[in-house]
Amino acid sequence: MAALSPRSRGVLWAVLWGLLGATVALLVVVLARTYSVRPPASAPTIWARKGERHIDPAFSPQERRELKEALKGAIRLQTVSFAPDDQNTTALAEFGPYIRKVFPAVFSASFIQHEVIGEYSHLFTVQGSDPQLQPYMLIAHIDVVPASPPGWDIDDPFSAEERDGFIYGRGTLDNKNSVMGILHALEFLLRRNYRPRRSFYIGLGHDEEVGGQKGAVKIAAELESRGVQLSYLLDEGSFILEGVITGIKKPAAIIAVTEKGAVTTHLSVTSVPGHSSAPPKRTSIGILSEALSRLELHPMPSLFGEGPESMMFEELAPEFSFPLNIIMANLWLFAPLLSRFLEQTPTTNALVRTTTAITLFHAGVKSNVIPPSANATVNFRIHPAQTVDEVLEIVDKTINDKRVKIEVESAFDPLPVSPWDDQTFGLQVFRKTIQDVFPDVGSVAPGICIGNTDSRHFGSLTNAIYRFNPVVFKPDDMPRFHGLNEKISVESFEKQVGFLFQLIQNSDIDQPPEPHANFHEL
Ligand SMILES: *[C@@H]1O[C@H](CO)[C@@H](O)[C@H](O)[C@H]1NC(C)=O
Ligand SMILES: *[C@@H]1O[C@H](CO)[C@@H](O)[C@H](O)[C@H]1NC(C)=O
Ligand SMILES: [Zn+2]
Repeated sequence: MAALSPRSRGVLWAVLWGLLGATVALLVVVLARTYSVRPPASAPTIWARKGERHIDPAFSPQERRELKEALKGAIRLQTVSFAPDDQNTTALAEFGPYIRKVFPAVFSASFIQHEVIGEYSHLFTVQGSDPQLQPYMLIAHIDVVPASPPGWDIDDPFSAEERDGFIYGRGTLDNKNSVMGILHALEFLLRRNYRPRRSFYIGLGHDEEVGGQKGAVKIAAELESRGVQLSYLLDEGSFILEGVITGIKKPAAIIAVTEKGAVTTHLSVTSVPGHSSAPPKRTSIGILSEALSRLELHPMPSLFGEGPESMMFEELAPEFSFPLNIIMANLWLFAPLLSRFLEQTPTTNALVRTTTAITLFHAGVKSNVIPPSANATVNFRIHPAQTVDEVLEIVDKTINDKRVKIEVESAFDPLPVSPWDDQTFGLQVFRKTIQDVFPDVGSVAPGICIGNTDSRHFGSLTNAIYRFNPVVFKPDDMPRFHGLNEKISVESFEKQVGFLFQLIQNSDIDQPPEPHANFHEL
């Protein structure tokens, strides 16, 4: 996410001081805002649980061995999604018996119902002892993107080889760590005779990487037909970022509250074919290239400050070192400036605007023939403050050429922004659980998922959808996603299980206690 280069910071300094010098009154307001933004209050000490015991996530050496071996076994099943209609169904079919073998307590508890949905997806219903409490849901996916050995530090991306405290392999971060983590946390709680008070569901989709139509969509439809409404839903998506955001020292837990939308357009131009010895002034290739070039040269407008990304920086403001803290706490003034700097790196630019990516180009038949047609595919990822229609309108205006035919291949709007306030049950549970398991984390802030997850299919069950993987993510982890050398440290995986172990228990309270003042005062 956000990373300002030293040069950018230098310029920020200069501009900042120029501005501040201008008016003393402004300075007073700016500083007042900066230093009145308080760090998050310490978590309330009493999480009333009506006389129930709280079990510490302390696992025995034998359990810790079992944990990592279970994850390795899951990685070795090559549950690859190549395309919506091309998945390794052999491996997907093996996954069911595998979890049945590894999690005997989960599969034998009288209050847990297991169902297979859409042939390879799994739905668990954990019946809590108190039917008055609104259930919640944890989801993850068992399929992975393809991986082939070249470029990996290990011989086989599906070997789950352990090296220097890390388990390597496709799916170790995306997302078998969550699949196995959720089930293992529940398994360990059950072995300690824990009976949850609040009911919850576990949904494990099998085609997330290719859209989720066969897995998550069916799981959601099934629950909807049963009239289920959730208090919150937790999926993968964001991480605990350490050293990723320049200017913030302590790890920051970013919980994504929305996902960008997407629209894929097909652009085509046709022209009369002929011999290249007497060409027309413009060929279909030239016309289409010009249209594409205009799209690249005129990116979508910056919407920084109009979506949840501004909430993220405001929430993180107290964590930034001087003078960045001043900027972040005063986005009402500095948003345009910060936006200009975020735009300079692809990953942060993606937070600021709807992105434009020309992904396919086809044209031409022969070196001496005027091309009869040219076509291209452009993929836009839509900022939360924009809609598909607005994007298409801008595309139309930017290209402004009737000869270019624009068709929509697929499109969906950005996901609704989930609540982010002290009254939201799920959020309170996350804050408490993060504090329990990751005491070094300095802040918990809302973020935007720039990719898409299965969670988008669950909108009819709750508006409180959160995307967070309780794993510490460092700058060099970025390219591992869907890339080379995907790996998780054994310690990180244990902590993830610890987090889920606590999360299930923390979700068992009736209502979180009133938090102390933890808002911006001015
Ligand atoms: C499918 O998965 C099975 C079992 O994990 C594996 O033996 C096989 O090589 C995989 N096939 C492909 C094409 O990935
Ligand atoms: C795109 O152009 C290529 C090459 O001219 C052509 O073979 C293909 O059919 C076109 N695709 C569409 C969808 O028009
Ligand atoms: Zn994923």
